[in-house]
Amino acid sequence: MGPRIAVLASGGGTNLKAIIDHYAALNTCAGSIELVASNRETAGALERAHAAGIPAESFDSGDDGSALIDLLHRFSIDLVVLAGYLKHIPGSVIEKYHGRIINIHPGLLPDFGGAGMYGARVHAAVLASGATSTGLTVHFVDDEYDHGPVIAQWRLRVKIDDTPESLAERVLSAEHIVYPRVVEMVAALTDSGLAADF
Ligand code: GRF
Repeated sequence: MGPRIAVLASGGGTNLKAIIDHYAALNTCAGSIELVASNRETAGALERAHAAGIPAESFDSGDDGSALIDLLHRFSIDLVVLAGYLKHIPGSVIEKYHGRIINIHPGLLPDFGGAGMYGARVHAAVLASGATSTGLTVHFVDDEYDHGPVIAQWRLRVKIDDTPESLAERVLSAEHIVYPRVVEMVAALTDSGLAADF
């Protein structure tokens, strides 16, 4: 029992895989993954979902949000998890799912976030700044990119010989450990009537 969870992904979905594996390994997790959805019909994430026996759907992300809202309603979704979802979430969706959409960012917000700051660009900007640490942030989604309240962060040291690729690899490995557990935590809090209020 617990919240019905949808994961939205635009790409290959390694975080999606980590979440699916975590939920499959522990039958004590709060909530359940009931839908994987993508703005791209060919997203690898949809194949992963299909292989795991989870409904996988694509939707038109170019509208005012009604296609996504219809889809989330059709599957009675309570909690939306963005895992490498690259499109903007329309205000109508944010309003309907206020406090119930979370995202993971491969940097320590509020630094190195915002529109256009994704993937390798984040790690290149971290290195160019001379920062001595980087990491990941899980946060609620509001109507500004990478802006909503922070739920969890994990800090990693930037090494002297790091490249954007080596940083990306280390941060992503940490994401795979942190994100499934934070999803589970948010689901458990939601289930206990202690959903975040902001
Ligand atoms: C991750 O680095 C995540 O922080 C960002 O998008 C990437 C998704 O990777 N939001 P994957 O599709 O889960 O492999």
